[in-house]
Amino acid sequence: MSTAAVSDYRELARRRLPRFLFDYIDGGAYDEVTLRRNVADLEAIALRQRVLRDVSQLDLGTELFGQRLSMPLALAPVGLAGMYARRGEVQAARAAKAAGVAMCLSTVAVCSLEEVAQAVPGVVWFQLYMVRDRAFMRDMLARAAYHCAVLLFTVDLPVAGARYRDARSGLSDPDARRGRFKRMAQIARCPGWAWDVGVCGRPHTLGNLANIVSGQSLMTDFFAWTRENFDATVTWKDIAWIREHWQGPIVIKGVLDPDDARAALECGADGIVVSNHGGRQLDGTPSSATALPAIVEAVGDRLTVLADGGVRSGLDVLRMLALGARGVLIGRAWAYALSARGHAGVAHVLRLLEEEMRVAMALTGCTRVEDISGDLLVRPP
Ligand code: FNR
Repeated sequence: MSTAAVSDYRELARRRLPRFLFDYIDGGAYDEVTLRRNVADLEAIALRQRVLRDVSQLDLGTELFGQRLSMPLALAPVGLAGMYARRGEVQAARAAKAAGVAMCLSTVAVCSLEEVAQAVPGVVWFQLYMVRDRAFMRDMLARAAYHCAVLLFTVDLPVAGARYRDARSGLSDPDARRGRFKRMAQIARCPGWAWDVGVCGRPHTLGNLANIVSGQSLMTDFFAWTRENFDATVTWKDIAWIREHWQGPIVIKGVLDPDDARAALECGADGIVVSNHGGRQLDGTPSSATALPAIVEAVGDRLTVLADGGVRSGLDVLRMLALGARGVLIGRAWAYALSARGHAGVAHVLRLLEEEMRVAMALTGCTRVEDISGDLLVRPP
């Protein structure tokens, strides 16, 4: 199958992965209203076509948190990527580095920080969840500081949003035996994945948590561990605690409200990611694209505002920037590509996004990322 767009990679991922993994990536919380809104609201944004400007030289480069990037893009933290392709986080980090964009490694990655950093030094941001065990947190922050310059602290998951698809696919079936049986039946229908990832991609552990999570099945352990260990008591005060243990930039991921953005500023964060976790948490929130302008208005001149949710093309990247984001994260777009074709898939999707961004910039009359502003948006009458 030829691949011209992210949607092609989605279809390839659907064919290659056992259903429970594809649905885990593709799905969202409850009825997936927010998930759909993220995509639909971005798509609906009309752009002003501008003509007769010299657009022969385009510069997509930008700087985020002191790092020079080839374009204002980063791979969002996506858990369990080593289950989508063999040692998936390493493959994705290689593609991100070659493309000159950042990659953010999830706390709940299969490959550990050390494995990724050893294979691909120097590009990785780290994403942290607040867990109850502060000794673990201190240790995790020290490990991250050794390899990474930027910390994304995810705050929109004090409890996990229920995902109907995971219950149906067997991933979070309350009957563990039935769940395992369903998953095995799905794996049996995917020999390519079973050999490449199931056999050759071992060990299947949560690399960053190997010391504290142990058990028989990664998927079951993962859900059980998050349920038991994520700390729902966390408040803004705890950011000061993180600051004590992390010298570099702190970016709060999962802000969707201007008041929370102001609170992030007050507690000394360097940036925020406007995000609803890709529609995987509170179903019914506004899309990121809808929430973004008011947040930029509130704090955009004092905080680095990034955004994610629903970005499936270079055009969408440009739209997020026009709404006021300084940089954009992609989640499913890279997860589909990794699942379909590993490193080559992620590299290709990054090339596609770059090319689409170039065309979008040229046709809206922008030659530099700094030129992209709200001026590009067609305002509703
Ligand atoms: C995520 N996301 C996420 N976020 C985070 O902070 N830590 C994590 O471990 C994960 N894991 C994860 C797994 C999968 C399969 C998906 C799809 C997403 C959320 C992610 O970082 C990002 O916010 C969304 O994916 C952005 O939306 P799009 O680009 O997927 O529409």
